Amino acid sequence: MLPKIASLKALAEAEQISTADSLETYRIKFLSKKGLLNELFDDFKNVPGAEKREVGKALNELKLFLEEKLQVARDSNIGDSANSLDENLDLTLPADVYAIGSRHPLSVVRGKISEIFERIGYTVADGPEIEDDWHNFSALNFPAEHPARDMQDTFFVENPSGDEPFVLRTHTSSVQVRMMETSKPPIRMIMPGRVYRNEAISARAHCFFHQTEGLYIDKAVSFADLKQTLLYFAKELFGNSVNIRLRPSYFPFTEPSFEVDVSCSICGAKGCNVCKYTGWLEILGCGMVDPNVLDNCGIDSKEYTGFAFGMGIERIAQLLYRVPDLRLYSENDLRFLNQFKAES
Ligand code: PHE
Repeated sequence: MLPKIASLKALAEAEQISTADSLETYRIKFLSKKGLLNELFDDFKNVPGAEKREVGKALNELKLFLEEKLQVARDSNIGDSANSLDENLDLTLPADVYAIGSRHPLSVVRGKISEIFERIGYTVADGPEIEDDWHNFSALNFPAEHPARDMQDTFFVENPSGDEPFVLRTHTSSVQVRMMETSKPPIRMIMPGRVYRNEAISARAHCFFHQTEGLYIDKAVSFADLKQTLLYFAKELFGNSVNIRLRPSYFPFTEPSFEVDVSCSICGAKGCNVCKYTGWLEILGCGMVDPNVLDNCGIDSKEYTGFAFGMGIERIAQLLYRVPDLRLYSENDLRFLNQFKAES
C-alpha cells in the first residue's frame, strides 16, 4: 500500500496545471469521487490492522498534498482566461510605470503661503462656502443697502426656511468673523479657501477663485507689525530682493486700508509687460481691523487691535509661474498640469 501512495504522489507532482482545462482534469483524475485518491481510500479497508496507523497517516498526507496543489493552482487564477499562463508571457519584462499625478498649481501655492505663515506661528483655519449675510457682510461692517456690497458681485442661494437668502461667500473674510466669534485673542490665523463672484468668465476673471485671508489680533498690534509681516511674507515667497509698497485703499472691515504691491521679480523692477512697465505688481489687500468688526464679533476693541490681509491665490500663482489665463486653472488640461510635476 505504501508504494502505491508514493507513486500516486509522484504522478500528481508531475502533473502540469497551466490552463483551466488541465486544472479540471487534475481535479477529476485525483480528487473526484471516482478519482485515484478515493480508490486508495477504498483499498484502505484491506490493510492489516497492524499497518493501519502508518498507512492511514501516509494517505492523509497524500490527500493534503493533492488538495493543496489544487488550491495553489486555483489561487493563481488559472481559470481566468485573461490571466491564464501564456507561453508568450515574458515575466522578466519590467513592470509598467505608474502614471503619477501632480499637485494642482493652486494647491502648491496655497501650501507655500500657509507654510510661510505657519513658520511665524499662524495656524490654518477653515469655514463654509455657503454663508449667511452676517458672516460675509454685516459683521464685516457692510451695513444693509451699503454701496460697498456692490464691490463684490454676489451669488445668492435660496434659504429653504424662507428667511433671507444665503450667499456663496465672496471672500474668505467670512472665516475671519467665525474665528473671532469663537476664539479668544491672541488670534494668529490664516484661512485659505474658495470664493465666488458673479463675474463673466474671461482670461482675467472667473466666477470662482481662491483666497487666503490672514488675521492677527492681540493687545497692541500695530500697523508696523502688519508692514513687517507682509515684507517677511513677500521676501519668503518671491525672494529676498523684493520690496513692498502700500497704497491707500478702502475695505469696509479695515481702517486704514491698503493695497500692497511687490516689486516685480520678473524684471527686477525695471519694467516689463507683466508689471505693465511700472515695476510693481499688486498682490493683496490689507488693513487694521475696524473696531466695529472686533465689537461685532465679541472682541473688546478698547483692549485689542489687529490686522487682516487677503490675497488671491490664482494671482500669486500667475506671478510665480507666469500663467497668462485664469481659465487654465480649472480646465484640467494635462499639458498645463503636467508642468507642475516638479513642484511640491
Ligand atoms: N476681503 C478682501 C477682498 O476680497 C481682501 C481683504 C482681506 C482686505 C482682509 C483687507 C483685509 O478683496
